[in-house]
Amino acid sequence: MSITEKPSKTADLAVAARAAHLFRDDPPIINDYLALPMCSKVWKKIIPNRFLHWLVIDKLLKDVVPITMVVYTRARFAEDEALLAVENGTDQIVILGAGYDTFAIRHPELNDKTTIFEIDQSATQQEKRSRMKNNNIPEPNNVRYIAADLNQDDLFDVLTANGFETEKPALFSWFGVTYYLPFQTVESTLRKIAQNSAPNTEVLFDYVIERSCIDPEWISLHDSCAKFVSKKGEKWVSSIDPGNMAEFLDGCGYSRLKHLTTDKVNSQYFANRSDGLVYPGVIEICKAIHS
Ligand SMILES: C[S@@+](CC[C@H](N)C(=O)[O-])C[C@H]1O[C@@H](n2cnc3c(N)ncnc32)[C@H](O)[C@@H]1O
Repeated sequence: MSITEKPSKTADLAVAARAAHLFRDDPPIINDYLALPMCSKVWKKIIPNRFLHWLVIDKLLKDVVPITMVVYTRARFAEDEALLAVENGTDQIVILGAGYDTFAIRHPELNDKTTIFEIDQSATQQEKRSRMKNNNIPEPNNVRYIAADLNQDDLFDVLTANGFETEKPALFSWFGVTYYLPFQTVESTLRKIAQNSAPNTEVLFDYVIERSCIDPEWISLHDSCAKFVSKKGEKWVSSIDPGNMAEFLDGCGYSRLKHLTTDKVNSQYFANRSDGLVYPGVIEICKAIHS
């Protein structure tokens, strides 16, 4: 994704998706009750208003709305895995391309147990911090806000300059980003994390399934979403064949993998729902661990 002077539009859509989820789906997959306050003015008007919600979300955006399940499911997965990692002794969490992530704010119990490094391009991060201020949401004292362009700045230079300790394991959360980067950048970033961090460091990320591997049921959603984000100026430029994931990650330095394929996401998070929500087979989720 190219860095512009303006805050990321897809980050704005992602927080709106988490906010709308609480108005649409019961029980929620994740209760991000701070998502609505963190939304832009326009989404704050649309989401809680029945008519506008129907008009914009159910009518105008109907071809892309199913992809919002990816947004709130990955947020839930990130939260589950981060809490588990902290329980197991990890005290450094790095959120790459954090957008309007509210994990750190919603978990004050982690304040004295973890350092959370939120990295994002400057314009998006400034916008996030100003939305927090406007909503009287204080900045948690365990968060290091790092404005960086990951296409140019070295990830570990910026992390270590902000107190990251490479000899201790960490959890990297990298959601909603890989498909906006060339495949070589995804690969080199994963390699770099494995080479520069301690054993048992985990990387969580999501990826777009290579189009030729997508179940015909989900092709039109894939194509609508690709077109939609491209019009927003943030094009999907890389995808991965799920069958090659284990080998790919092994080559990047990760010997253990938790691969939440579409079926697994459905059984882990969407089983026994009375509303029939089904996770779409367009974007899958991974946790890679290097030992
Ligand atoms: C689709 S949003 C995802 C936000 C959040 N992680 C989520 O899952 O909802 C992508 C984020 O990556 C950030 N980003 C994109 N390219 C970047 C780069 N080169 N350097 C730093 N951040 C970048 C954007 O500013 C934006 O916040």
